[in-house]
Formats: sequence, structure tokens, C-alpha cells
Amino acid sequence: MRVAVTSDVAPRERRVALVPDTCRALVDAGHDVHVERGAGVAAGYPDAAFADAGARLGDRADVVGEHGVVVQVRGPGTHDVDDPLAALLTADHTLITNLDPLWQAANAEALARTGAAALALELVPRITRAQSMDVLSSQATVAGYEAVLLAASQAPRLFPMLMTAAGTVPPTRVFVLGAGVAGLQAIATAKRLGAVVEAYDVRPAAVEQIQSVGGKAIELDMSTADSEDSGGYAKEQSEDQNARQQRLLAPYIAESDVVITTAAIPGRPSPLLVTEDMVAGMRPGSVVIDLAAERGGNCALTVADEERDHDGVLICGPTDLPSRSARTSSQMLSTNIATLLAHLTSEDGALLVDADDEITAAMLVAEGGAVVHERVLTELGVDPVGEEEE
Ligand code: NAI
Repeated sequence: MRVAVTSDVAPRERRVALVPDTCRALVDAGHDVHVERGAGVAAGYPDAAFADAGARLGDRADVVGEHGVVVQVRGPGTHDVDDPLAALLTADHTLITNLDPLWQAANAEALARTGAAALALELVPRITRAQSMDVLSSQATVAGYEAVLLAASQAPRLFPMLMTAAGTVPPTRVFVLGAGVAGLQAIATAKRLGAVVEAYDVRPAAVEQIQSVGGKAIELDMSTADSEDSGGYAKEQSEDQNARQQRLLAPYIAESDVVITTAAIPGRPSPLLVTEDMVAGMRPGSVVIDLAAERGGNCALTVADEERDHDGVLICGPTDLPSRSARTSSQMLSTNIATLLAHLTSEDGALLVDADDEITAAMLVAEGGAVVHERVLTELGVDPVGEEEE
């Protein structure tokens, strides 16, 4: 198999899709690995490390070549900067990358027109067999950790309780909204820094998970029986439910020094959990870190990639948290992608994109010049059976 690793051009992106150790394992397995010069530098992996691992270095066009698998962290069109990779892809390439196709379906369609097959890393099914390919989990783990470090550096206070000759310092109160992978890591990290941590999630199963990482689970007086889909994800709530949730959350938010929001619904705008009024009810010096900024945010005042002060309350909407620990996040991403590549390799070492395979089918967005993924077609307003909707 020919595997190409290209540089990401997205703003603030510092990760690389495959790290040298993974390249070495692929080379040892008989694959031909090509890496774009400079691809790993921002993540702490110089070109020499890839060369030592047996990869061939070159410029983008040489590396992409005329056929084979191309891996990149974020796919062309998923961000504001033009990505020269798109013009190099042909029907003889298979692109493996983060494509966010449920949110950016039109972009997936544009990419499909290159003729390349495209597998979206975010669509890995949440099944035990695919756990080691799960980039959402690996990158959310880093994001949750980094969110707490950002909060700790921005808050004008220390996290732990201190009893000193200069008096007793109370601990910081952290409230985590959304206790999925990122939220649970945020709870665990804030606990390790000595904060008092409370958390809330709409899924009833989250109560035990919050407690298992040392947080206090907040349960609101509202029906959550139907809050989870069969894949373990939260479902979108009704407007009434949202309004009730905001009302019930308000006193907890007002009492918190740090609020970290991570609530997401796959392919949908992020639920609004923290309104402008709720921010006005927070004490000056409080900090909100909104991990859902890319999809509108969980806080009404969030602006993606900005830090804004609202009467003394700082609202941060970072979208590059995994990139802030780019070495670790790249290492995890690389393992996820290598496991996926192994899954896509036939017995004779060739690439095998089998649309009948459960994992491949869940991730295969484009093939043969068209979008082939049912949910992406639905987002595009196309009946997956083949008829265009009115
Ligand atoms: P996510 O990033 O889609 O959402 C983050 C969290 O926000 C979720 O826990 C969700 O319940 C919560 N949320 C959504 N709307 C909310 C609202 N209105 N109020 C409060 N919270 C809200 O989720 P993530 O982190 O990707 O995980 C989702 C689920 O998948 C979890 O149950 C997790 O345990 C499960 N999972 C399963 C895996 C596997 O079986 N291989 C791997 C990773 C996660």
C-alpha cells in the first residue's frame, strides 16, 4: 500500500496524522510511506525522525503521487483556508481524514467530485471493535484536559484549597456541562488540580461516570428517559426542555468560578446551556470555557477562537484544544489511523475498502465521484434511495 502523509493547512492546526513510530511500523509491514516535508514539525516530529523511520520525504505533490491512501488531520474545505490537497486528489486516491461531513455535507459533496474515496474519521462507529480507531475519543480526551489548563491559567485564582499563614484560600468551584469523553477528562483534570468539581449531563448513564472520576453529579428535575440514542449519543431536546434545563442550571452556574461546557449532538448545532442572563449572574473573575464553539457554542456569548470579557466574566471559545498538546494528540490520532489502516488492509497487503464491512460502511462518505453515506445524503436533501427531495 502507498500511504501519503500531508501537512495540514488549517489555522492553528499543529497535529500530524501519522507519527514516526507508526510510519516505521507501516514500513516494516511492507508499505510505502511518503511524508510531506515539515508535516510533523509543529507537533514536535522533525523530518529526520520520519526519514529514520523509513518514510520518504517530499513536497506535497510528490508525496500524494498518483494513487494510494492519503492521510491528513483535517480534510480540505473543513476550515477557512484553501487546501491545495483537493486539487491533487484523483479517483485513484483514498483520503482518510476528519471531514465533519454531517455538519459540512456540501463540502463532502465537493470533495467527492475529485473522484477520490473519502473516509471520515469522525464517523467511526462507537462499537467495541472500533474503539482503538476512535479519534473522537482520543482527541476529546486531550481537549478536556487542555480546557482545564486554559481555565486554570485564565482564572484569577488557584484551584486547590490552601491553608497558609496568610489565611485560608477556598478551592475553585468548577462546573462541567456535558460529561462525554471531554467532560469526564475535564472533571478528572480539575479534581487533580484540587478544585471542587460538579458536573451535569442530560444522559442518565452519565451520573455514575461523573462519580467514577471524582465529580459530584448534578441531577435536574426533568425527564431524561428519552435523552439517549441507540449509539449512546444525546438526542436533540425540545425548546421547552432546553428552557427548563437553562432555568434549573442557572443557580449552579451562578455559584461556579469556572464553567466548562462540552455538550454536543452529532451533526447538529450545540445546545444552548448558558444564556446571556446566566453569564450576567456569574461573579466577576469567573471563566467559561466553551468546547462547543465550532457549532455555535453552549454559551450564548461564545465567539469561536476568541476570549471575550463580559462585565468581568471571561468567555473562551477555543477550537484548537487538541492541537495545544499536538505531540500527544498526534500520537493518539496516529494509533487510531494505523488501526483503521490495518482494518482496511487485505491479506496480500493491498487497500480494501469494503462497503459491506460495518466499520468501513459507517465511515465511507464518498466513492466513485459521489457521496455514498446515507446520513450525509440526507443532510444534502437527497433521498438515499436515489430521488432528490422537493
Ligand atoms: P459528544 O461530544 O457528542 O457530547 C458530549 C456530551 O454532551 C455527551 O455526554 C452528551 O450526552 C452531552 N450533552 C448533549 N446535550 C446536552 C445537554 N443539553 N445538556 C447536557 N449535556 C448534553 O459525546 P462523546 O463525548 O463523543 O460521547 C458520547 C457518548 O458515547 C458517551 O455516552 C460515551 O460514553 C460514548 N462513547 C462510547 C464509545 C464506545 O463505545 N466505543 C467511545 C466513546 C464514547
